[in-house]
Amino acid sequence: MVHTIKETITETVNDHVTASTNTKTKAVLNQAVADLSVAASIVHQVHWYMRGSGFLYLHPKMDELMDSLNGHLDVISERLITIGGEPFSTLVEFSSNSGLTETTGTFDKSMTDQIQLLVDTYKYLSVLFQVGLDITDEEGDAPSNDIFTAAKSEIDKTVWMLTAELGKEPGLK
Ligand SMILES: [Fe+2]
Repeated sequence: MVHTIKETITETVNDHVTASTNTKTKAVLNQAVADLSVAASIVHQVHWYMRGSGFLYLHPKMDELMDSLNGHLDVISERLITIGGEPFSTLVEFSSNSGLTETTGTFDKSMTDQIQLLVDTYKYLSVLFQVGLDITDEEGDAPSNDIFTAAKSEIDKTVWMLTAELGKEPGLK
C-alpha cells in the first residue's frame, strides 16, 4: 500500500514521539545496569571475605546470588539496547553511576555484618526496581515493566531469606 505524504509524515512524527517518551525508561534501565554490576561485585567480595559459622553453605550461596544478579543484568542491558539505549559497560561507568557504595574487603567482619551488607544491598535493589516499575508504567513500556516485576519479585524473596538468616523480619513494604 502506498502511503500519502501526510501519512508518512504522521508516522514519522509518531515514531519520534514514541522514541522521546521512553527517555526515563532508558535511564532507569541503565541505572539498574550500573547498580546490578556493583551489587554483583559486593556479593563477590562477601563470597571471598566471609569467615565464621555458616561458611560452608553461605559461601556457595553467594555463587547463586551472583548468577541471579548477572542474569537480571543481562536481560536489563539487552532490553535497553532493544529500545535504542546504550548500557554502561565499563567498571568505571558502573561504579560512578551506581547508588551503591563499595568498601575495601576485610576479614574482620562478622558473618552477621556480611549478611547485613547483603540485606542493605538487596533492599536498595528492591527500591530501584520499584522505581523501574513506576517509570515503565508511566511511560507504557510493558516489556520493561515485566522485567522489573520479575527482578523485584526475586530480589524481595532474597531479602526475606537473608533477613531470616539474621533472625529478623524482611522489613519491606
Ligand atoms: Fe568462588
